[in-house]
Amino acid sequence: MGLFYSGNCASRFSRYYTITAIIFLFFSCSSSDQKVLPARQKISINRDWKFYKYKEGEQPDDLIYDVRPELKQVAELRVADSRPTQAEKVKARQVVLKPWILPSGNAFIKDSSKHFVRPEGNPGENFPFVKIDFDDTSWQQVNLPHDWAITGPFQEGWDSEVGGGMGRLPVNGVAWYRKKIVIPEDWSGKTVFLDVDGAMSYAMVWLNGYLVGGWPYGYNSWRLDLTPYLVFGGVNQLAIRLDNPNYSSRWYPGGGIYRNVWLTVVNPVHVAQWGTFISTEHIDSAKASVKIKIDIENTGNRKADIEVVTSVFAFEEVDLPEKSPVAVSQLKETSVFPKGKVHVENVIEIPNPRLWGPPPTQEPKLYVAITEIFQNKSRLDRYETRFGIRQIEFNPDSGLIVNGEHIPIRGVNQHHDLGALGAAFNTRAAERQLEILREMGCNAIRMAHNPPAPELLELTDKMGFLVIDEIFDCWEMKKTPHDFHLIFPEWFEQDIRAMVRRDKNCPSVFLWSFGNEVGEQYTGEEGAALARKLAAIVKDEDPTRLTTASMNYAQPHMPFPEALDVISLNYQGEGIRQDPMFEGTERIRRPPSYQAFHDKFPNKVILSSETASAMSSRGVYLFPVTDKLSSPIRDGMGGDSKNRQVSSYELYAVDFGSSADKVFRELEKHPFVAGEFVWNGFDYLGEPTPYYLSRSSYTGIIDLAGFKKDRFYLYQAHWRPDLPMVHILPHWNWPERVGKITPVHVFTSGDEVELFLNGKSLGRKRKNKFEYRLRWDNVIYEPGELKALAFKNGKPWAQTVVKTTGEASKLRLTADRNVIEANGYDLAFITVEIVDKDGLVVPRSNHEIVFSIEGPGTIVATDNGNPADMTAFPSKVRNAFNGLALVIVRAEPEKTGTIVVSANSSGLKAAKVKIKSK
Ligand code: GAL
Repeated sequence: MGLFYSGNCASRFSRYYTITAIIFLFFSCSSSDQKVLPARQKISINRDWKFYKYKEGEQPDDLIYDVRPELKQVAELRVADSRPTQAEKVKARQVVLKPWILPSGNAFIKDSSKHFVRPEGNPGENFPFVKIDFDDTSWQQVNLPHDWAITGPFQEGWDSEVGGGMGRLPVNGVAWYRKKIVIPEDWSGKTVFLDVDGAMSYAMVWLNGYLVGGWPYGYNSWRLDLTPYLVFGGVNQLAIRLDNPNYSSRWYPGGGIYRNVWLTVVNPVHVAQWGTFISTEHIDSAKASVKIKIDIENTGNRKADIEVVTSVFAFEEVDLPEKSPVAVSQLKETSVFPKGKVHVENVIEIPNPRLWGPPPTQEPKLYVAITEIFQNKSRLDRYETRFGIRQIEFNPDSGLIVNGEHIPIRGVNQHHDLGALGAAFNTRAAERQLEILREMGCNAIRMAHNPPAPELLELTDKMGFLVIDEIFDCWEMKKTPHDFHLIFPEWFEQDIRAMVRRDKNCPSVFLWSFGNEVGEQYTGEEGAALARKLAAIVKDEDPTRLTTASMNYAQPHMPFPEALDVISLNYQGEGIRQDPMFEGTERIRRPPSYQAFHDKFPNKVILSSETASAMSSRGVYLFPVTDKLSSPIRDGMGGDSKNRQVSSYELYAVDFGSSADKVFRELEKHPFVAGEFVWNGFDYLGEPTPYYLSRSSYTGIIDLAGFKKDRFYLYQAHWRPDLPMVHILPHWNWPERVGKITPVHVFTSGDEVELFLNGKSLGRKRKNKFEYRLRWDNVIYEPGELKALAFKNGKPWAQTVVKTTGEASKLRLTADRNVIEANGYDLAFITVEIVDKDGLVVPRSNHEIVFSIEGPGTIVATDNGNPADMTAFPSKVRNAFNGLALVIVRAEPEKTGTIVVSANSSGLKAAKVKIKSK
């Protein structure tokens, strides 16, 4: 298939985008029609952009989207559940480009009388950066996806420009991307779209000096029609301006064109952007009926009489020429007028359907529908839609039913950053995260709080994760001074429809969320009315799925939950700030609330869209250990504000949160609840509560580098009851604690454990109902060996040993994969361990390690999972954090061979690892 893709299944053909931006090679689709261009091409233009960001203190150009409110006093130092304040009305005093940008969203405004009309004129035409002859040779050369902030440096201190909330990295500012694209002569007559999967933020695009349009919200995908401004048979100059405001987010947003960018080349008559919608109508064992709705548009000047037909293939077979479709639709004849649209519908019966469902009990089987448009026997378009056949039911008394099977939701929340790689999307990095989550028993992801890269949904479709796709963290009421509330009134409809239209064929998406903890929870009927309005837009785009918005504040008697199909609770289920120390606080306090919501809404499913917000730093154990099930964090109580670390006894949470155990207990007591999404799966950049001076969060079950905290095993023990496992904490290197009480906690999927210290039994304990860990809280430390023997139903089930190690003596490197693809995107994640002479990881070793690389690979980043580490990610010198560090290596494009990564540290034996790039 080479370099050209069609439809929205692009990466199916090439796992890691082996494509380059060479856009002159064509292949013919039709054997009878030599030299005819393919009906549709999707061409990556990720490579070789020029990039310029205004330096600090430099006055950027005034080609602004709109005026933003001036910040008088920045109260960004805030906790996550602070009450959002009223949005501010900002009056534009300057000339702004917004009127030229708003029409880009017209296709997503249902009421055509409200479509924006482009004003006369061409703002920016005299600005050098948009001009074709501007000399950009001194600009930085970059490939997309590109995150301009991730290389750092980190900004430290209380008064840093970018604060802890947004990750202390230089995300803010205005920058330009430029790229020359050569458009072949024989594309004339074609329609050429620019498809941007995500740019952070306020994107405005010029082509050959003409302002084409743009899209402000950084998390959506969007399309512009370049055709009117293109020179066919010549060089064309794209110039994209981004403006990423400070104080615009509660987490690290990244900056730049951080997702894939494509040219889509079609005939004037073609399937519209995200123009198919496939839904399952009926399933039985012999056949499934799926409905396919197709929107076809005609950007040309001639009426076209067309025939439309869709063939369905098994996903694995669509590229195998010897395989025929499993079903073909009836041929539909219709006409589409110039600049017009037409809608075609078919019901297709698929024999012996293979259903999409979440593992381990089901398989995520996929299909591909190929929709073809013909005119006088010549093919005008060929559009691919990846889809799955499945039945989702919501039962208010038991939760989620997928294909007739009750599936408890064992989910996590994930932000969009990929740790040391930042926001720049990378398929392998996302796949690695999902693999680790799956190992834990996780079956669902909430995309907090914005739509992900399309390739992430391709992964969740293929791997069988259930997904809540979410659009906003705020509506009209702000959470931070420059967040989405500034553009909500003019963009909410376009952004909601764009998300739903793009993702509605993904079988993994089982629920739409149109808001997270929005301020409108507080505004009674008014907020509820807005919620109903947004829900109606979602339903108008997709009547097949339910909708929700997450509530940390709204209670059963308030109007807000009435507006939701599914009750999504953040923290309220297990209770908020119940600890007596919060008596009298003005912050949100709630008793465990599942039952109250169930009583009020007996016909609605309840799920917890956020639970826990428990915190820990991998490998850090602080004493004394609370004897409670769940505790807030303070110095001397699970916290160490000096070193900015939280204890890994996994009993400590943000003030409004709860330990995993407490959440499990409340869920088990309320079996009508569909399940939980833990806050959160992987640590993320920004929001480093409780230590604002850090760079990244403490709430992940897995640290920023992808290393498992102890909590991983607490979830695994509960979520994978059939996997024999047992895990001991803490490590057993405590020379300063000899003779002191050092509690030992054990997580197991068994029901009983006998613990031994140096061969002597410390007793056999059994988990009682609503207990998820076994605790030996009075162990007196002596060096040696801890051994846990786990039993299930009285029979041996699993065992593990933790030993006091010797001195650190050598380094050990292990790659997650020893063969990677030489395509410029694929990655190897190398774990670095500091071990003693017997190969045991030395728990508290934090040595400085120097990395080097030979062969066709690049060290893109290093990390260690320490939220307080301010070493810039690209650094090849990094301290280990509690025995571990990470090196991320990217394969260079089209250069095969052996990559050798070496690690050196003074006083330790060096190590190497080899990776093949092919
Ligand atoms: C929640 C919020 C999340 C995150 C989390 C941190 O209230 O929805 O986005 O801030 O708290 O604990």
